[in-house]
Amino acid sequence: MILESILAFLHISAILALVVFITSEAAICRPEWMNKDIVERLVTVDRIYGIAAMTVLATGLLRIYLGMKGSGWYWGNWLLHVKITLFVLAALISIKPTLRFARWRKELRATGALPSAEEVRSVRKLVMLQAHIIPLIPLAAVFLARGFGGR
Ligand code: HEM
Repeated sequence: MILESILAFLHISAILALVVFITSEAAICRPEWMNKDIVERLVTVDRIYGIAAMTVLATGLLRIYLGMKGSGWYWGNWLLHVKITLFVLAALISIKPTLRFARWRKELRATGALPSAEEVRSVRKLVMLQAHIIPLIPLAAVFLARGFGGR
């Protein structure tokens, strides 16, 4: 029970970090606020967001393999597959923003140029999309945790 509680704490802490950093990205990635400090900061915030996402995945896997219900019960549960599908979807959507932030910083350092308003707007849409997919995951999680979705 102690291990279960520690794993739950680690999973929730990683989720909180993930939410904090996707929210920061959404808050600062705006055409009207774009300047060189924001370009630099976006790369840092996005890197921490990536680390938080990896930690969410790692702690989720730990809960599957070390949790009391057993990995067989989890892998046979369709709600876990919904969670993982949504998580992978958000991860795939995050690829383009990550590449763009790195390119913006590279161009800024080389030429001093800032990204166009149109480009910032299109990347912001992808950040917002992730920010709206992530809150759906706990819906599957709370039912999964209470035994729904199993055979
Ligand atoms: C942003 C992504 C995620 C969010 C927001 C999230 C959210 C949550 C929440 C809120 C709980 C606690 C549910 C409760 O006790 O009422 C939970 C539990 C759990 N999560 Fe996640 N999760 C995420 C990703 C993942 C991933 C990727 C995996 C698997 C690789 C995973 C596996 C689990 C497992 C096994 C539990 C334990 C369920 C139980 O108590 O039986 N989670 N998650």
